[in-house]
Amino acid sequence: MTGQAPAIILGIETSCDETAAAIVVRDQFGHSTIRSNVVRSQLDEHAAFGGVVPELAARAHVTYLDHIIAQACREADITLTDVDAIAATAGPGLIGGVLVGLTTAKALAAALNKPLLAINHLEAHALTARMTDQVAFPYPMLLVSGGHSQFVLVRGVGDYQRWGTAIDDALGEAFDKIAKLLALGHPGGPAVEAIAKKGDPKRFKFPRPLLREARLDFSFSGLKTAVYLQAEALAPLSDTDVADIAASFQATVAEIVSVRARQALDRFKAELPKAAPQLVVAGGVAANRAIAAALATVCEQADATLIMPPIALCTDNGAMVAWAGAERFAMGVRDRLDVTARPRWPLDLPNMQVGASEEARHEP
Ligand code: KG4
Ligand code: ZN
Repeated sequence: MTGQAPAIILGIETSCDETAAAIVVRDQFGHSTIRSNVVRSQLDEHAAFGGVVPELAARAHVTYLDHIIAQACREADITLTDVDAIAATAGPGLIGGVLVGLTTAKALAAALNKPLLAINHLEAHALTARMTDQVAFPYPMLLVSGGHSQFVLVRGVGDYQRWGTAIDDALGEAFDKIAKLLALGHPGGPAVEAIAKKGDPKRFKFPRPLLREARLDFSFSGLKTAVYLQAEALAPLSDTDVADIAASFQATVAEIVSVRARQALDRFKAELPKAAPQLVVAGGVAANRAIAAALATVCEQADATLIMPPIALCTDNGAMVAWAGAERFAMGVRDRLDVTARPRWPLDLPNMQVGASEEARHEP
């Protein structure tokens, strides 16, 4: 979009276990400059519990968010009065954390008399590739994170069609649970990937739930149960057993994701024959090299371009929230100070109305 002056946006992200703030500038040609992107992960707070504890996450956001925002401004060499708008994740996510970020954003907006933008966290992931690679609409996106595994057709800002989703565990969650089972620590994805390098991916043949069905949904809980049963049957596990289970699990999910990605690309080409074939990938699981390599192969075979933003922008961060805010700001969107935080907020609700009716707030 052209015609607007460059906008300086503060982005705030607190929906899970990262306290994050960033300053992003979007110019009149839609180009971005990330002036700062400060992320504080709460790994230490949750380490002893083997997963994110919502109450502890919210408290840590309260403790650190002010400092993280101040640091983001310092690193960008601006003061808060210089920003044109304040964007914060308003959902979906852990409600205590979302409330901390959104309430802070509201307070800043009110005190500084700046516009507020209440951002859907999934939209922030969905638009990141436009910040990093200026990807043009429409494009299919695969979001694979700790909380979500879904294919979404991104038609425009605020215009999404969900093509498929995880009907049980998200992919990152499955990695985290397998890591817990194998006593590899939290977060599980990187730990499973590291140990899988030493293992035999062909030793165990795990099930690939739903894969025979044409729909673009995922199901990982049956696979997870099969892994649990295999581990139980072999217990006590040797180091080799652990590595082989991790490698076989990872190879199975890489295959599942590849098959689905191919289906999504075929659907994209069939429904939007004039659009450039491309696949955008977002979310923390994109950090997995085996999955990334499998997706690269699929895209090559399908003659499509694979767009994967740098990992630091695929995992939760403030820059993606600032960018989603910048895109909405450029379209003239402004949110009211009484917008509500929403623990559930599917991406494909019409117009992404934050103040929508209670019935519409529940995922279909
Ligand atoms: O996007 P993200 O940072 O946070 C949200 O869930 O929104 O994703 C975190 C998830 C965790 O479940 C983590 O285990 C997974 O991404 N993950 C990985 C890898 N790195 C992070 N999964 C597999 N392989 C990895 N290398
Ligand atoms: Zn996320």
